[in-house]
Amino acid sequence: TGYFTYDPGFTSTGSCESKITFIDGDKGILLHRGYPIEQLADKSDFMEVCYLMLHGELPNAKAKSEFERSITYHTMVHEQLSQFFRGFRRDAHPMAVMCGVVGALSAFYHDSTDIEDPRQRMVASHRLIAKMPTLAAMAYKYSIGQPFVYPRNDLGYAENFLNMTFGVPCEPYKINPVIAKAMDKIFILHADHEQNASTSTVRLAGSSGANPFACIAAGIACLWGPAHGGANEAVLKMLAEIGHKDRIPEFIARAKDKNDSFRLMGFGHRVYKNYDPRAKVMQQTCKEVLAELGIKDDPLLDIAVELERIALEDPYFVEKKLYPNVDFYSGIILKAIGFPTSMFTVLFALARTVGWIAQWQEMIADTSQKIGRPRQLYTGATARDYVPVEQR
Ligand code: CMC
Repeated sequence: TGYFTYDPGFTSTGSCESKITFIDGDKGILLHRGYPIEQLADKSDFMEVCYLMLHGELPNAKAKSEFERSITYHTMVHEQLSQFFRGFRRDAHPMAVMCGVVGALSAFYHDSTDIEDPRQRMVASHRLIAKMPTLAAMAYKYSIGQPFVYPRNDLGYAENFLNMTFGVPCEPYKINPVIAKAMDKIFILHADHEQNASTSTVRLAGSSGANPFACIAAGIACLWGPAHGGANEAVLKMLAEIGHKDRIPEFIARAKDKNDSFRLMGFGHRVYKNYDPRAKVMQQTCKEVLAELGIKDDPLLDIAVELERIALEDPYFVEKKLYPNVDFYSGIILKAIGFPTSMFTVLFALARTVGWIAQWQEMIADTSQKIGRPRQLYTGATARDYVPVEQR
């Protein structure tokens, strides 16, 4: 059946051509459609970045307002979908809920599942970008027993999400522009990261011709793991477990011990062998948010800064080129804003949806793309004859 390359974990396999995101892992460079992530985080906004991902260019003023109008048009979810939430236990992890409800969009929006039609592909993309904040906020509200808050189209994307998450019908959420801006920046920093595990999952699911909502649900499932998007939640748990700066050396020693499965969460990356450029922006944003909220001495931030300092000087981490990644500081910001740890990976999924769907669109438009079908190295039994149960 021909030769193939054995590459478990796909450490050296290129799976597709893409024009969306460029990473130079040795230099710590990340570009979206050519634009450096630092510039996008500093000067742009998430809606613009979404447009850029989908269309390849930054929008002019008219295109931007049309795009924003289309996104706000789709922010509500079908009223019946709220019934779907009620089927979950209240203590369900919100990522479990997200895997279910996003997959369920396939059952509600049939009119945008014809993947042969480019217009329907774009409508499905807009729907996903628009509805993810609504669904994420609903997952949170359901878990704490508060009523769902409807989207408000007079608010910006991040502001609307904060309002649906923290507002209650009897009292609207007082939007702090610094916090809303930080939220928007966090979305930009998570928007896309080329062929990472969840994006490759979306592409693989999509390569069979599955509908976009089902493909994004597959991406959410993959993102959940602690080696991927679940790391932001794991970082905060780790910092809390460390508890005090004095205990950092103990955890560093554990991370280096090959007989201990513990790893420094928020450290290391398959592609970056240098500082993750997103982590740098995140660290700065973290300081801004804590200053705005008047949090002078955050014990977890103190531990994080000291942990980073010690690790970056330790020969083990230096030799293996292990640096903080995007998840290292994001949890501290999200906690300060008021999100419980269980929502951290949901926020990652919300922001990554644009990357997933842009990559999905790129793949569908590429008619040369075949169904993804890796091979294997078979190590099981050789051929043998069936033995009836009474003779075994
Ligand atoms: N702590 C201690 N040792 C580590 C760590 C870490 N965080 N990360 C890698 N190593 C060691 C690892 O033990 C291995 O050592 P050796 O060569 O002696 O066996 C070496 O570094 C290479 O690690 P690897 O597991 O072969 O590398 P990988 O590319 O397969 O894994 C990773 C990348 C991100 C899964 C890994 O670095 C890790 O588990 N980090 C912690 C989890 C984390 O922060 N994930 C978020 C990634 S960025 C955002 C995202 O993708 O969602």
